[in-house]
Amino acid sequence: MKLVFLGPPGAGKGTQAERICKEFGIVHISTGEMFRMEIAEKTPLGNLAASYINKGELVPDECVIGMVKSRIEKCANGFLLDGFPRTLSQAEALTESVSLDAVVDIEVPKERLIDRILCRRSCHDCDAVYDIRDLGGNEFCPVCGKKLSVRDDDTAEILAERYHVYEEKTKPIIEFYKALALLIPIDGDNRRDVVSEEIMRKLKEAGL
Ligand code: AP5
Ligand code: MG
Repeated sequence: MKLVFLGPPGAGKGTQAERICKEFGIVHISTGEMFRMEIAEKTPLGNLAASYINKGELVPDECVIGMVKSRIEKCANGFLLDGFPRTLSQAEALTESVSLDAVVDIEVPKERLIDRILCRRSCHDCDAVYDIRDLGGNEFCPVCGKKLSVRDDDTAEILAERYHVYEEKTKPIIEFYKALALLIPIDGDNRRDVVSEEIMRKLKEAGL
């Protein structure tokens, strides 16, 4: 199974990707996570990526496309791309190298995203992601006990730019995949379980 998840920042791509990948036994490929690992290791790619990510801009296509192509070559049993493609050039490059089964577009109104983003906390140790409101304000990971952290790009100012970039550069991809009859729209403005059920149901309806 070869899937793509589209959606604005905070739509729940990562949250739902974890669940769907577990269900189907496929590899979760998040380009944002790949860059954050490079940044943590202070590699040249990480330093370059940080200079874009911390302004809410996209990392240039030429840095992303090759990285994703070599990653998906290693996923014989299928993959779920979370956060790629984000430009028409990336979508065209992906079409040249693989035949996708479906593109899941998780839609959430803009005004719902700010609270999700500002309340997100991540655990560097076990990779868990939480909404701090669900933890009653506890800043430590309920699974491993480590201090939770806030992503550097999760500020109101950077989110505004990320959303602007999403509207300008990524939204046109929706039409691209609609024309290829691959698009599955999902209402992401629901409880996590309800969203997962809708994705599962629509993938099954599509014969996957
Ligand atoms: P990336 O890491 O992909 O960030 P993003 O697209 O902005 O999306 P997020 O990870 O913020 O949100 P999400 O949709 O995964 O939501 P989540 O499940 O965490 O990319 C970061 C940056 O890297 C980009 O800005 C760009 O600079 C660069 N980059 C990455 N890919 C690139 C590419 N292809 N080309 C160029 N540059 C690239 O959920 C968010 C919060 O909401 C969590 O706290 C979660 O618990 C909560 N939540 C989730 N679902 C629900 C729900 N149903 N109800 C209530 N709360 C929910
Ligand atoms: Mg994510």
